[in-house]
Amino acid sequence: MPSTRTLLQALLLGVGSCAANPLVASNSGPEVETRTLEEIHQAALKEGGIVTLWHGGDETTQQNTLKQAFEARFPGMTLNSTVDLSKYHDAALDEQLANNNVYVDSIILQTVQDYPRWNEEGALLQYAPLGFNEVAPAYKDSLGATYYGVAINGWKFIVNTNKSNVALNEWEDFLNPELKDKLVLTYPNDDDAVLWAFDLILERYGTGFFDRLLAQNPRWVRGTATPSTILRQANSTYAATFTSGGGFVSSNGVNFTLPTQGPFVTWAQTAAILKDAPHPEGAKLLHGFLLSTEWQQPRGWSVRRDVPLPANFPFGELDDNKNTNAGAFMPFMVDRARVGRLKDWLESKIGTPQGLSPLKDGI
Ligand SMILES: *[C@@H]1O[C@H](CO)[C@@H](O)[C@H](O)[C@H]1NC(C)=O
Ligand SMILES: *[C@@H]1O[C@H](CO)[C@@H](O)[C@H](O)[C@H]1NC(C)=O
Ligand SMILES: *[C@@H]1O[C@H](CO)[C@@H](O)[C@H](O)[C@H]1NC(C)=O
Ligand SMILES: *[C@@H]1O[C@H](CO)[C@@H](O)[C@H](O)[C@H]1NC(C)=O
Repeated sequence: MPSTRTLLQALLLGVGSCAANPLVASNSGPEVETRTLEEIHQAALKEGGIVTLWHGGDETTQQNTLKQAFEARFPGMTLNSTVDLSKYHDAALDEQLANNNVYVDSIILQTVQDYPRWNEEGALLQYAPLGFNEVAPAYKDSLGATYYGVAINGWKFIVNTNKSNVALNEWEDFLNPELKDKLVLTYPNDDDAVLWAFDLILERYGTGFFDRLLAQNPRWVRGTATPSTILRQANSTYAATFTSGGGFVSSNGVNFTLPTQGPFVTWAQTAAILKDAPHPEGAKLLHGFLLSTEWQQPRGWSVRRDVPLPANFPFGELDDNKNTNAGAFMPFMVDRARVGRLKDWLESKIGTPQGLSPLKDGI
């Protein structure tokens, strides 16, 4: 690797940590929600019964579960959700802000580095939703309550056991000769959370590991749902990935694992309500619902400290896991110079991302 500051140094220096960001002082402080979800529901109905959400992702259907659950839980409400790559949503939101024409209510994105900036620009509503107090400090703007994690996302080791018998226990297992021509991976120079995985493995295992991974002849694709989709297809020979999320219960020919020695990526998918949101009550309802125990609990690792893991969850408590640090994603993401250098280095090895966005291209 080119000499870049290590993650550890970044953390020790506190560079870019969200807690270190002195917020634009507000005398009044954030509005703290005291109503129940049912009371907010009534206010949101009076407001028009709609909430416009821009959610980061790479398949249009990715938020259908949320939409169905939200609309069933709160009759009369419509969740007007649009999924796109977070970096594209960011650019489009900047355009709305520049034109003073905010029509989105809620943003939930992977590009966490933009939240401190939008906050400094005064673009975000200072509002502590129901559940905000229980969100771990590393995942939120504790002072202004302008942004906060609402979900712990991350990449898993995934293998289609119909196509490969290689058990993925550690990173070295991806170098198994039996996985030659069978790996499908997302371009790290197209998605910064995938980039972070490469950053972690380069730091730990060096460029030698990376060269051996390239020698496996992985197929590079756009979108992080794409590898998971392709490895499941009976008509493809691709069998394994480490750049998709997805479930946690191994079943029906798909195994999910995580390393117990090597590092792996988790982060808090981060949410905010726009200060000029046309439907603030709808957005408050959505965020209160997302942070509720009823929504958080079945999904595995939670941004809240008080939510127990589901009974069938195989990976143990997040805070006890020494191999991942979801709170370190923000410092990684705000150091754009370092992110840019790493992208350029990877691009020199694997080329520029090919193909349209998976949302426009299909797979
Ligand atoms: C739904 O979302 C789209 C995309 O953000 C937006 O153009 C449209 O105005 C929204 N619809 C309503 C009724 O707010
Ligand atoms: C998949 O998981 C099952 C159940 O845990 C296990 O028996 C099997 O060996 C695993 N196969 C691979 C390839 O990981
Ligand atoms: C492979 O199967 C998928 C459905 O699982 C289909 O969408 C795709 O077109 C198929 N590809 C080829 C090359 O046949
Ligand atoms: C694996 O094979 C079984 C048995 O044919 C099938 O039911 C299952 O859908 C397959 N799973 C995948 C992911 O290919």
